[in-house]
Formats: sequence, structure tokens, C-alpha cells
Amino acid sequence: ELKIDAEHPGINISPNLYGIFFEDINHAADGGLYAELIRNRSFEEATIPKYWSLSLTGTAEGTITLDSDNPLNSAQSKALRVDVTTADPAGSVSIANEGYWGIRVTAGSQYYLSFFAKASSEFTGKITVSLQSADGQAVYGQTAVSGIGTDWQKYTTTIVANGTDSNARFVLALNTVGSVWFDVVSLFPPTFNNRPNGLRQDLATMVKEMKPRFVRFPGGCFVEGDVMANAFRWKNTIGKIEARPGHQNLWGYRTTDGMGYHEFLQFCEDLGAEPLYVVNIGIAHKDNISLDELDSWIQDVLDAIEYANGDATTPYGAKRAANGHAAPFHLKYIEIGNENNQYDSQDNRSNLYGERYIRFYKAIKEKYPEIYTIGNVEAWGTDTPSWQYSYPVEIVDEHYYRSTQWFINNAHKYDNYDRKGPRIYVGEYAVTTNLDCGKGNLNAALGEAVFMTGMERNSDIVRMASYAPLFVNANDRTWNPDAIVFNSSRVYGTPSYYVQKMFSNNIGNIFLPTTLTGFNRIAPAANKIIGKIGIGTYNTAVKYDSVVVTNQSDDRILLSDDFPANVTNWSVKSGTWSLSYNETDTASTPGMIVAGSSDWSNYTLTLNAQKISGK
Ligand code: AHR
Repeated sequence: ELKIDAEHPGINISPNLYGIFFEDINHAADGGLYAELIRNRSFEEATIPKYWSLSLTGTAEGTITLDSDNPLNSAQSKALRVDVTTADPAGSVSIANEGYWGIRVTAGSQYYLSFFAKASSEFTGKITVSLQSADGQAVYGQTAVSGIGTDWQKYTTTIVANGTDSNARFVLALNTVGSVWFDVVSLFPPTFNNRPNGLRQDLATMVKEMKPRFVRFPGGCFVEGDVMANAFRWKNTIGKIEARPGHQNLWGYRTTDGMGYHEFLQFCEDLGAEPLYVVNIGIAHKDNISLDELDSWIQDVLDAIEYANGDATTPYGAKRAANGHAAPFHLKYIEIGNENNQYDSQDNRSNLYGERYIRFYKAIKEKYPEIYTIGNVEAWGTDTPSWQYSYPVEIVDEHYYRSTQWFINNAHKYDNYDRKGPRIYVGEYAVTTNLDCGKGNLNAALGEAVFMTGMERNSDIVRMASYAPLFVNANDRTWNPDAIVFNSSRVYGTPSYYVQKMFSNNIGNIFLPTTLTGFNRIAPAANKIIGKIGIGTYNTAVKYDSVVVTNQSDDRILLSDDFPANVTNWSVKSGTWSLSYNETDTASTPGMIVAGSSDWSNYTLTLNAQKISGK
């Protein structure tokens, strides 16, 4: 029986409790949510034209090279040069892009193509652009672009697909002699909310259906970079895509920054979620800048706030308006650093956090007192992270990647947190221990769900929480598990995704105390063991027979044939019952363990085991 006590309402549940954590890990952005279909569109990856291939048909001949001598602009260091040395009216010199593990083409959809090109004066031909099957046998739509000039210029066209294929390729074909340079070759399908330079509809819809109240972006370690040269710099991620240089992502690939600061803010607005921007405070994984150099990084954050919230009379507010969004985005949360409050044991450097934190904090609060700031506490080394400074802090960000059992055991973690604060944001959490989580499973999701009940019950102090990571492209599972799994054409949510969605879609506004009777919570734990048989080191086979377990209450009990730490196979029994237990293990293998429910009051249980052989 469940009794709800509406007479004695408890806390108001934090309306912003459930949000998401977005980071470009596992190709979550490039090759994921960001809908760009061309991989290595700017030819900046590697010293060869990676993900592009040359093909010659008929008697046509030609070559491709990466050219650093004719850059499109200062943001693009390389272009692709195609030289057609022999033309064949019945054949072509073509280059194909394979996309991110295949390009998804859907019959009836319109694809928007843009590219920059220039040609040598002898090239007078046309460029045929098409979507094809991987083997080139099927063509799903094509068109031609002609009149390529000798100076860099942007060309645009559209292709409507007449077939569906999840592993298609994009082809540019040339059929007259001469040289053509290409850069920033970009192809978009229809996007979420029809935004230009937008997001994949299916993936964005999965996120929308979670009803996140906030979006933490752009990471994660992605914010920090492996070295400072690869840190996220928001000013390099706004404006026209050809003006964005991109950078090396510490998760093993290059990011275009096509999904940049503006697109993140736009996505938040489209979701009806608050933006929570995590900023680099001059610390990367392997290096950092000195305190003397910090001012320009602090200024960057102030400028970012102005870009998001300033009116069009401010320099950065005007840039936002010029980029297509005249109204402010209402940025409210800034997190000062990501997992940067670590101790020596974690990163072999002295703790760099405090002094940097307070300089960012003061600068932000002085100019924008209405912004909530979030501080870092130790992320990996402890179960009880705390704010060790006397500096003011409003919210601290705790991270937990643990076992299912840890999350269950910690359902009451926040019951006794000091209500004076600081308030808590659980910015990253998930069951990650291999045996528990697989590639995302119900066991992990249930552990997280139990923990979430504790956060919700205590959301006067735990104001916000986000599962992590959100996305994985199944072709690049760098971090496991993740909430949403996809490839070029398909997507599914793990059980953890559905737990997040269920809690967020059904959040209440007031906590009402409840009492549950006639049912006992099942929480096996080492200190709850009430009976053990055959435990210890023994060197001969042991056999028990006629093990009678009399459970005089109607509690349910748990039975395992191993120590709780290794338990894989708990079974649940209730009432009075008996079983025949025939253990023939030798050496130090433990025998049977009987553990009770977590409610021990009024509990009586007797074990009667008859050993029939062994020591
Ligand atoms: O979620 C994956 C990573 O875990 C994040 O980038 C980082 O913040 C944490 O260490």
C-alpha cells in the first residue's frame, strides 16, 4: 500500500532539475547531431585528402593534391586541387566523399549543397555533383554547376534524392582539362526546425522528447582540450562556416566547430531549455596558461555573455544579430572550468583551480550579477567532494561514474547535505562499471533511477542534474555507455535514455512524503548478510543438503551463491520455503549467502543447513 501525505508537503522540486550534458565525444556533434554530411569538408584533416577518393572513368586522367598555396581565407590552411590532364567526354575525373560512415540519403528529401571553388583559366567545363550508392552503380540525384571563375567564389545548388540509402556517397565530377580548387564543400539534409547549418532531425527530436530544462555545453573535456592550443574558443565557432578554422578534438578527431556557440544557443532556444555554458579557465589536460595570461580568457567569457544576452548596441550583441538572431538568448548559467578542481594525484600538477576560479567569478559577477556561476569540486577521486575554499560559490558540479550498487547505496546521499549550500549540480553521472552497464542496459538504468529519486527528493539542494554522455555514434564508441546510440540512418535510446525521459517528462512541483507498506525494498549489501553457508577456505568438496530457510515474516529475502561484491545472480524468495543446496565447490570458493531486505525490523529468519560431506 502506498500512502501519500498531501497534508504535509515537503520541498518544492527544482523545476530545472533534469537537463542534458552535450559534448562532442563519440562523434556526438560532427558525424552526429550536427547535420553536415561531408566528412573533412575543409580538407584540414591530415596531410592527405582523408575521407575523399579519386576515381577515373573512361580514358580520363587526373590527380588530386592538398594545396596550401591557394587558401580560401586565413581560417582555411588547405584546399583540394584537382588536375584533369586528359578529358574524356564519356568519362570523368571525380572525387567522392564517403561521409561519416556513409551518407544517409532519403527519397524525396532535398539536399542543400554549397562549396567554394576556383579554376585555372583553361578549365571551361562544368562540375557535375551527385549522390550515389557506395559502388557508384545507383545515382540518387545529380545536377551541374558551371562558370567556375579564376577567383574563389561560393556556389550553391540543391539535389532532390530519388532513392534511399544509408551508405551513399557524394561525388564531384569534372570532364574538361584544367585545374579546379575546392574548399568547404558542405551538404545538408533537411534540418531540425529548418535551421540553416542545423541539426539532424531524428537525433534532435530524441533530445527534444527528453524535455531537458537546460543544456550544458560544449563539454566536458572538450572544453579543456588535451593542450591549450586545442581548447574550445567560442569566437572561432561563430559566423560563416568558412570562417571557422575548426580544431583538434581530444576525443580523437578534428571538429569543424560547425556546431558552434551560436548553434548551441539556438538549440537551447528550440528546446525551450536554459543554456549552461562551460568555460575554459586556462587549463588543458596537459598544459595550462599562466595567471598573467588569464585576463584575455576572462574577457572571452564576458564577451560570450554579451554575445548571448547583449542588445544590438553592444559589439557582441550586434554580432549575434548579424548572425541572424536579433533577440537575446538569455544565457543564465556559466560553469567556471570543467573538472579542474583536481588534486596532484589526478593530474600531476598542483591544484590550479582556486585562484583562477575566483578571478573568473569576480569578473562575471561584477559585470553580470544575474548570471549563476557554477564551481568545480573534485570529480574523480572521492565520493564526498566538497568546496574547500572560502571563496563564494553558488552551485558546485559533482560527477559520478560508478556501479549500479553505488547508485543504489547513495539514494540517500543528499538527505543530510547542509541546506546552507552550496547548491549542487550533478553535472555528469552514469553507471559505467563494465559488468553492470554493458552498452547501456536496464540494470544500469535502474541504478541511476534509484539515485535520481534521491536527487529529486532533495532538489531544494540538488538543483540540476545531467546524465553523461548523451550521444554515441556506434562507429566510434570512445566512451561507454551513452544515452542515445546512432549511425548514419538509425537511432535508439538505451534504457538510461528512457529513465531520463521518464523522470523529466513526469517531474512534479512539490515533494509529498509517502509510506510504502506490504513491500520491502531489496538492497543487498555486505553488512546485511544474515546467513552464510560454506564460507571460507576449505580444501575438499563440500555438500549441503536440505537447507531450510524459514522466513517468519513476509519479507522477501535474497539468495546468492557468491559474496555480495561478486553477486551476479541474486534470486528473490518470500514466505517460508526450503531448498536443496548442493555445493561441490572446492578451494576458497564461497558457498551460499542469504541476505535480507533493507528493512530489518520485525525480521526473523532461521537457517538450517545440513552438511552431508566435506570439511
Ligand atoms: O563524459 C565524458 C567525460 O567525463 C567528460 O568529458 C568529462 O568531463 C568527464 O571526465
